[in-house]
Amino acid sequence: MKHSTLLLSLTLCVFAPACDSGGDGDGETSSSGTDMGATEVDEAAVQAALDAFPTGFERISAMPFPSEGHAAAVDVHVWVQSAGAEAYRGIDPAGEGSNPTIPEGLILVKEQFDDMAAVTGHTVMVKGPAGLAPASADWWWGFADADKQLANTGQIDFCIDCHAARPSDDWLFGVETDNRN
Ligand code: HEC
Repeated sequence: MKHSTLLLSLTLCVFAPACDSGGDGDGETSSSGTDMGATEVDEAAVQAALDAFPTGFERISAMPFPSEGHAAAVDVHVWVQSAGAEAYRGIDPAGEGSNPTIPEGLILVKEQFDDMAAVTGHTVMVKGPAGLAPASADWWWGFADADKQLANTGQIDFCIDCHAARPSDDWLFGVETDNRN
């Protein structure tokens, strides 16, 4: 445990602007900690929100729609916590430049379905505090299984590389305007 505590604080130092112990500052460090304070996302709280899902979330898509980005999914639904639903609805996947104001701590869930409409997993984005991850617009990334249990979390390069294509929409793709709930 000592060892992982050390690792955890090293990870924090990479992200915390106030941390004066240096670090290599490459911003690439993956993190999967819990309860780490002001410059981290509280993974236990994210898991609790997922456990309650869909309670607390608004479904943005009217119908499940074919995923263009997520190869593991045939169809997807997008759900956003109410605090950011209005801002999210301002994003049009066919356009760009919506520059939404996404509140800190907001959780977005993309529910993934197979060709039999069974849920296969959930991708999760959480807007972290300023300074969490300067290289990825302070987003925190997660993949949860069909039972909504988080598996991979943190700065997942695979997710980041793709969502970086939407810089003027806070890294979000949005839902087609003719498929709104
Ligand atoms: C190949 C490109 C690609 C990769 C890789 C990718 N995404 Fe996405 N993501 C998309 C696209 C495109 C959408 C719009 C919906 C769709 O087509 O599935 C999307 C939508 C989302 C949404 C709904 C919010 C939005 O952007 O409108 C979430 C949440 C999400 N992705 C999370 C993730 C996570 C977490 C990962 C990594 C585990 C990931 N994505 C990897 C392309 C990608």
